[in-house]
This record gives sequence, structure tokens and C-alpha cells, in this order.
Amino acid sequence: MSNDTLDLDNIQGDILGGGLPKKTETFYFFEVTKVDRFRSQFSEFVPLVKTAAQVNGHREEIYAHKQQKKPGLVTFAAVNVAFSQSGLSKLGIQGDLKDKAFTAGQLKDAQSLGDPGSTTDGKYTPDWEAGFKKEIHGVFVIAGDCHGSVTKELHQIKHIFGVGTAHQSIHEVTHVRGDDRLGEGHKKEHFGWLDGISNPAIDGFDEAPFPGQDSIKPGFVLAKRDGDIRGQDRPDWAIDGSFLTFRYLFQRVPEFHSFLEENPIILPGLSRKEGSELLGARLVGRWKSGAPIDVTPLHDDKELGADPQRNNLFEFKGSIEANDQSRCPFAAHIRKTYPRADLEGPPKNFNIDKNRIVRRGIQFGPEVTEQEKCEKKTHHGRGLLFACYSSSIDDGFQFIQKSWANDPGFPLDVTKTATGTPGFDAIIGQSASGSTRTVNGTNPNDPTTNITLPNELFVIPRGGEYFFAPSVRALAETFAVKSAHPSTQEVLSV
Ligand code: HEM
Repeated sequence: MSNDTLDLDNIQGDILGGGLPKKTETFYFFEVTKVDRFRSQFSEFVPLVKTAAQVNGHREEIYAHKQQKKPGLVTFAAVNVAFSQSGLSKLGIQGDLKDKAFTAGQLKDAQSLGDPGSTTDGKYTPDWEAGFKKEIHGVFVIAGDCHGSVTKELHQIKHIFGVGTAHQSIHEVTHVRGDDRLGEGHKKEHFGWLDGISNPAIDGFDEAPFPGQDSIKPGFVLAKRDGDIRGQDRPDWAIDGSFLTFRYLFQRVPEFHSFLEENPIILPGLSRKEGSELLGARLVGRWKSGAPIDVTPLHDDKELGADPQRNNLFEFKGSIEANDQSRCPFAAHIRKTYPRADLEGPPKNFNIDKNRIVRRGIQFGPEVTEQEKCEKKTHHGRGLLFACYSSSIDDGFQFIQKSWANDPGFPLDVTKTATGTPGFDAIIGQSASGSTRTVNGTNPNDPTTNITLPNELFVIPRGGEYFFAPSVRALAETFAVKSAHPSTQEVLSV
């Protein structure tokens, strides 16, 4: 596989670093209705796609703006694009990307992911929003500093593809919008935890990873680069592309908080409220501030949580062989989704790098209202537009969800160094068989305790799809077809 330095002009901007800078982001899911016209209009669209190099430049601009204490935000809008397998097939793009989850599509995967749904005449249908049960060929990911910037960018895109005119080549299937939370919720997901703390660093891109932030070869994120296990079997055009997993996840926030309030961990010296906060921290693996419980097991440490030099500096070391969950339960969300030393290092030596993902989520929906707090019941849809990139969905998102978060035996059944049932990831773990979900080891003093989670999930999937975000060169040379016909712009300006 190629070891060359990364070609930042060729990689879409959402994949590396922090991704597209965003205060707001719209995912516009589309169906291609006229293939030839789309591929011809696409050549006008490609120059809009923001590359990793351009995003680096914008981040520098934003940094300078902040340093100079200038008012407001830097005006910014950026678009990236990705296609589903049905989109590639529709467009007639040749070549097998060698990823089973991607090829089948997420709708077909929903049952085995454990997404709630119903079966009629032997056919399973997930409880997803109607739009996500339709065929989706592609998605425009549009990020910006404000709704106005994103709307303007989307308007330009629709114009290129002739939406609303006789030259239309795409049809909107559905769209969703996420927004950074403001005030107290800033940088936090809706349950109240600081988010966006741990992502892998990429060799050749992130020059100075934070302490404890493991660096991975670029091929675990970028197709056909050093580290991509299936790289040589993938078509040439796939180089520098990456799979994008999108999940539309609704969070039942008042219900989650009420569960914590009703099940405080009872320890000498802890108030009931502190016991509830401890339970929350042990289900996530971090305190709300972001401080890892592996470092500070019984009390939050806000400075630690906010300090990137220290908030990833832990390994869950030593505890698995002794079945020791006193510092962090095996089933804690961050331990299930990135088990660090549980699987890495001798004598286990699993190649955990292939299961890493880079997360790019954003929150959606309003803040919890006083009414919802009072009733402890969700009345308004809110949650996470979960998005992540990896060079494999089979080993990345799908594996993390199915083989780790949803598997009550993991990590003990994999390492076979101890016996026991750690239980489900309480945040995202789903039972495909409908079995009761329990979590083991929530009480640091008594690792044998099990708590039972409610039947209704705290995080409910309501849609999603698997995509591939090709390189900019592939977009220009393989997806777009320069046409002899006049462009939409030209036709419209006549
Ligand atoms: C609404 C749903 C979700 C919520 C509320 C949530 C919440 C969180 C929080 C609070 C963190 C710790 C902060 C951080 O490292 O950024 C985290 C980390 C993480 N989450 Fe989630 N998450 C959700 C969905 C998912 C899904 C669907 C996956 C993948 C299947 C996932 C994978 C991860 C990974 C890999 C980490 C980093 C672990 C580490 O490196 O320490 N999360 N999540």
C-alpha cells in the first residue's frame, strides 16, 4: 500500500483532523433520478467540495480570528459528498469496495445491529423515520458557521443539480440538521457529557498527538493507504476515500437522568445525588466534565476533564486479568467502544487499530424543557447525528456496535483471561435477540452487582446509511463526466 505522504488536496475535508469546522451541519440525502445529467452536472459541483488542505487553511483563519479577539464568527460554509452502494450502482461506478456492510446497506443491517423494529410475514422493518427506509444514493454534508451560510451553500448545490427545474437530476429523500449546543450544553452531547474528546491521531497528519492519544496508520481511515487491510483488492479510484457511517440517534434524556436518579451507587460518604452522578460516570467511563474514571474513580475533576494533555492518558491497564472493575466497569461506553489495554499489548496483541473510527457527530433537537424535566418524559426529538469515518465499516462502526457494545460477554469472551458477563454498553448497546440488558460491576466496591436496564433504549436509532466519501480526484475523474451539452448554469442563464 502507498506510503506516500498524505495528499491533502485529494482528501475530503471532513475525514481528517477535526473535520469540517461547524456550528451547524445539514445532511442532505438524495436520490439520483437522471444519471447522465447528474454526472455531467457533477463536474460543476466538484470544485465546491472542501478538501483537507482547505479545511486546514480555514482552521488557521478561525484560530487567528479568535487570537485577535475579533467579534463574531468567521463566515464559513463547506460541502463534502459521499455515496451509498446503491448510489454507486445507480451511477454505474465499477469496482467492489470489499466491505460487506457497505454493500448490503444499513437498512438491511438494522436487524442484526439490534435496532428496534417489527416483523410482518417474516420481513423485519426497523422503527426508522420514513425517509431512511427509502433508497438513498448519496449525501451532501454541509457545515457552516450559521444556518444562513449553510442554506446559501445548499441553494447553490440545488441550483447546480437543477432542483425545481426541468434540468433536475436529483431528488431529496430527506434531510436532517444538527446544531452545536449553546450555553451550559456547549460541546456536550444531550445527556450532558463533554463529547469529542477521544479520536485516534493519524500518522502523517496529526504531527503532535496528545498524550495517550494513540496514533494509527492512515490506511485505517483512508482506503488503499498504508494500513488498509483490504486495500489491494479495492478499485484504484478508491484511494484516499473513506467510509462514512451515518446514524440518526434519538436520546431519551429525561428518562436517562431519571434512571440515574433512581439507581444511585450507595457508597459510604456519598450523597444520593453523588451516587447518581457516579452511576452515570461508570456507565460512560468518564465524568460529565470528560475526566476519565480510570484516573479519578470516585470524584469528578473538571480541570482534568478539560485538559487534552491529560484527559486521554489512561489505559484500563491490569484490570482485566483480575476481573477488576473497581476503577472502570468493562461495559462502560468508552471501554466497550475502545478497550485500550484490554485488547492491546502482550499477551493479547489484538490489532485494535483496525477497529478505530474517527467520530464527527453533532447534536440535534431542542434543549430539554421544564415540562419534560417535570414529567421525566421526552416530548421533543433530540439526540446525536452520529457520523464516523473508517477504511472499513465491517471492522469499524458495525464491529464496534455488534461485537462490542451489543455483546454482553465482551471483552472477557474475547480475551478469555477472566470469566464473567460484563453486560451491555448502557448508552448504545442493543439486544438483537430482545434479551434483557444488564450491566455488571457498576458498584466499585462490589463487582458482582448487576443492574438491569429498562427495556426501552436510552438511545433509539431512527435511521442511517453507509456511504463512501471518494477522493476529490475520483469525484472529478470517475464520478463526473464532462459533457458537451451546456451546463445547468448556462441553460438557466440564457
Ligand atoms: C447518542 C449516542 C451516543 C452518545 C450519547 C455517546 C457519548 C459518548 C461520550 C460522552 C464519549 C466520551 C467523550 C469522547 O471521547 O468524545 C464517547 C466516546 C466514544 N463513543 Fe460514543 N456516544 C454515542 C454513540 C456512539 C456510537 C453509535 C458509537 C459507535 C458504535 C460510539 C463510539 C464511541 C467511541 C469510539 C468513543 C471514544 C472512546 C475512546 O476512545 O475513549 N458512540 N461517546
